[in-house]
Amino acid sequence: MSRVTVITGGTSGIGRGIVEKILANSEKDDLIFATYAHNAEKAECFWDSLTPDDQEKLVILKADMSSYEEMMTFVETVKKQAGHVDWLISNAGISTYDKFADYTFEEWNRIVNTNLSIPVFMIKEFMPVMTEGGSVLFMGSYAGQQAYSSSVVYGVTKAAVHFLTKSLVKEFEPRGIRVNAVAPGFIQTPWHETRTQESYERINRKIALHRFGKIQEVADMAYSILTNHYMNGSIVDIHGGYDYF
Ligand SMILES: NC(=O)c1ccc[n+]([C@@H]2O[C@H](COP(=O)([O-])OP(=O)(O)OC[C@H]3O[C@@H](n4cnc5c(N)ncnc54)[C@H](OP(=O)(O)O)[C@@H]3O)[C@@H](O)[C@H]2O)c1
Repeated sequence: MSRVTVITGGTSGIGRGIVEKILANSEKDDLIFATYAHNAEKAECFWDSLTPDDQEKLVILKADMSSYEEMMTFVETVKKQAGHVDWLISNAGISTYDKFADYTFEEWNRIVNTNLSIPVFMIKEFMPVMTEGGSVLFMGSYAGQQAYSSSVVYGVTKAAVHFLTKSLVKEFEPRGIRVNAVAPGFIQTPWHETRTQESYERINRKIALHRFGKIQEVADMAYSILTNHYMNGSIVDIHGGYDYF
């Protein structure tokens, strides 16, 4: 049976890197469903960069994962087109650098919905069509382990994602489906495109390897977790030795 992968936020940064890694290791009839939310141009650019063979394996769909309705429409589309899911990767995420004192209830809810609540219900909806021995992978964050005052809501959602990862192991146990998370430190993606040189230097001083991680380094880690049949209930750090000295 062909392998079906679902990944949210699959056309930018780490998500795109994971899609490229899976494509590079795919068989003829494998399928990947990747979502984007706002940046159609970036999604198109990614599509154009692929070979015709890889384009046949990739379905890019617009789905705003802060909306329950759009998530449900996406799930129904995948179920109709593919019938089953082997690898489910919840990668899309957002943050804010607003001061805590300036938070609005709406902004808090938008971030909690996108990073946590909608992924929970997406996984619940896909659960019945997941293949025995399949794999669920969350994109967590080192910010879910270490509190940063610069992004309280983000850290709270990622800590919850880590806890969710462990909590879902039992739910998926009867069908041998593994649930894991990657917890990256600072990775060079469009996420950081507005960061100043001063900020890069300040952060690099705190990383033992003195650089941000590469997308491919996280994608390789994600792929190794997806394919390692004894990885289950793990939150795997990848941060170059952040804050270790
Ligand atoms: N880069 C880092 O240092 C780092 C560290 C730890 C964890 N992470 C996590 O890694 C994941 C990917 O981030 P990235 O660094 O690769 O950043 P990125 O390049 O900005 O990617 C974010 C992705 O999330 C999608 N997205 C945003 N809002 C969405 C929504 N409402 N519905 C659906 N998709 C949405 C974006 O799609 P559009 O472009 O179409 O909006 C984009 O594909 C996130 O969960 C992030 O928290 C990143």
